[in-house]
Amino acid sequence: MMRTHTCGELRPDHLGQKVTLAGWVRFSRDHGGVLFLDLADAYGTTQVVFDPEIMEDRAAVEGLESLFKTFGRESVISVHGTVRNRVEGTEDARNPTGQVEVFIESAELLNRSRPLPFEVAEQKGSMLPGEDLRLRYRYLDLRRTEMSNNLRFRHRVIAAARRYLDGAGFVEVETPMLTRSTPEGARDFIVPSRITPGSFYALPQSPQLYKQMLMVGGIDRYYQVARCFRDEDSRSDRQPEFTQLDVEMSFVDETDIQGLIEKVLSSVWKEIYGKELPTPFPRVTFYDAMHRYGTDAPDIRYGLELNDVTDIVERSNYEIFHRVLSKGGRVVCMNVKAEYTHATSADDTMVGRNEVDRLIEWAKGQGMGGLTWMRMIGGELTSNIVKYFPDDVRAGLIERLEAKEGDLLLFLAGSEIAALKAGGELRRKLAKDLRLLEGKDHQFVWLVGCPLFQRDPLTGQLETFHHPFVRPDGCLGEGGDDTCMGGRSYDLVMDGNEIGSGSMRCHDPEVQRQVFRLLGMSDEKIESDFGFFLEALSYGAPPHGGIALGVDRMVSIMLGTESIREVIAFPKNKKFQGLMDRSPAPVEESKLAELQLLSLAGDEEE
Ligand code: AMO
Repeated sequence: MMRTHTCGELRPDHLGQKVTLAGWVRFSRDHGGVLFLDLADAYGTTQVVFDPEIMEDRAAVEGLESLFKTFGRESVISVHGTVRNRVEGTEDARNPTGQVEVFIESAELLNRSRPLPFEVAEQKGSMLPGEDLRLRYRYLDLRRTEMSNNLRFRHRVIAAARRYLDGAGFVEVETPMLTRSTPEGARDFIVPSRITPGSFYALPQSPQLYKQMLMVGGIDRYYQVARCFRDEDSRSDRQPEFTQLDVEMSFVDETDIQGLIEKVLSSVWKEIYGKELPTPFPRVTFYDAMHRYGTDAPDIRYGLELNDVTDIVERSNYEIFHRVLSKGGRVVCMNVKAEYTHATSADDTMVGRNEVDRLIEWAKGQGMGGLTWMRMIGGELTSNIVKYFPDDVRAGLIERLEAKEGDLLLFLAGSEIAALKAGGELRRKLAKDLRLLEGKDHQFVWLVGCPLFQRDPLTGQLETFHHPFVRPDGCLGEGGDDTCMGGRSYDLVMDGNEIGSGSMRCHDPEVQRQVFRLLGMSDEKIESDFGFFLEALSYGAPPHGGIALGVDRMVSIMLGTESIREVIAFPKNKKFQGLMDRSPAPVEESKLAELQLLSLAGDEEE
């Protein structure tokens, strides 16, 4: 037997027992010839002690001494010895094994470690080596308790979700990785075909089309912990390959799907936090999300809501606002309540003059002209520009913003979308600066009532808001402007981050075809790209819908990590490189030739 116990197992109950442990030597300390080693494995750390004075077998002592002299930290050893109490006063209350130690009688070196590129022992925060170094030696990084806990936590979340779905009759079905491109709005990763030269597979951006085909195939309740691939710009919450909890259901409507997800997450919450998750989750319309929170992923755990005050301030004489309004712009205002400002005079506040000056600079950095402010002092709005706002305008603002003594009003002026988005960013910034989120529970919100289409601001081209398979919220082609149609979609937002997205689908092939046409696709293009899909829908596709949750994102928010890379075993770095296996990497010419890609490579070199 290689070990009788793990390194996290021994307690005072084991006193006097002969045990064998195996693990990594994380620390060693020499106290006047007595050697203390921290022996670590996946389950914990146990102190083991080698005391040459007490051991009677001199040959064994010499053997062990030379052994301990020759290996470095993170070498793998096994030790055999007796469990005993630690010397009084040296117990470690933070370590579950910290009452006891193992007195070594024999030890064996199982494998040695080279000198380490960085300390594996419990480094955190700024003590951690740079991320690229951690990713280069990810297997060492994974030995840190924090990383190991992250992966175990992720596993528990996925396992709890799987258990629930399994119990509810869902079938996990694997879908292909070598596919035809699915339009989820990103670029594809392309895989050349050797057997059909000049043709390519695409790695799936999501299993969208396949899960719909499974519904046509009568599977009825599908889920998959699915890997997705998207070639898009790097962000802390994006990876080129990531995992979705992907779900599709037949003969349902959106409330069934949302209800199911609420149940899945409730059972995850019970498993992980041992408490009930309040359901149903609140619903916020896309319109309200944009106008009150300045984002399509609202965090509703704090106030600081936005108000459009264009209709009031257009009656002011304030030149800066008028310049914006003359170009069709809007003015939005946020009331930072007195409890956050503690204002007693225009200059003496928590969000005081200096902070407001900093916010003005911040707003400029966001591409806004600046930021205008007023304070409620002595029952009146005060500021350096208040003279441009007649009595009735000030009264209108006080009423609309429900301004009370000490409140600070912040105004942002610009094009509607710019003013709202800057307002959304200002909300986020103040919530962070004023620490409004400390101690707050996680909060899920359904974002509903999204449009089916949007226009590219630069080209004016019609695009889908989500993807082209969303069922329109009404009948297309029955008069009215189809491009203003709503979609039967919903996003799941957690603490101000989009963590999921889903919809009812076009199960009628003619509706699906009309959507493709509205997107500007010719009938030939529709046929070549989606003919197989429309064909499937024409063989009796049931009404169906589904959703996909971003597993990495959700787990990262649950754990409060800075990026999703902290909850992925082998993520790509910020430049989407795999630093451990050094991918992407050049390929031998012979392989390119076999794929008939050599001429492409040659062209590029020229
Ligand atoms: P969507 O494209 O919105 O929908 O993706 C669903 C969820 O997946 C997560 N996600 C990502 N996570 C990490 N890195 C990425 N690059 C990344 N891209 C997306 C997000 C997102 O909310 N097929 C549809 C779902 C459906 O309609 O059923 C889809 O994939 O958390």
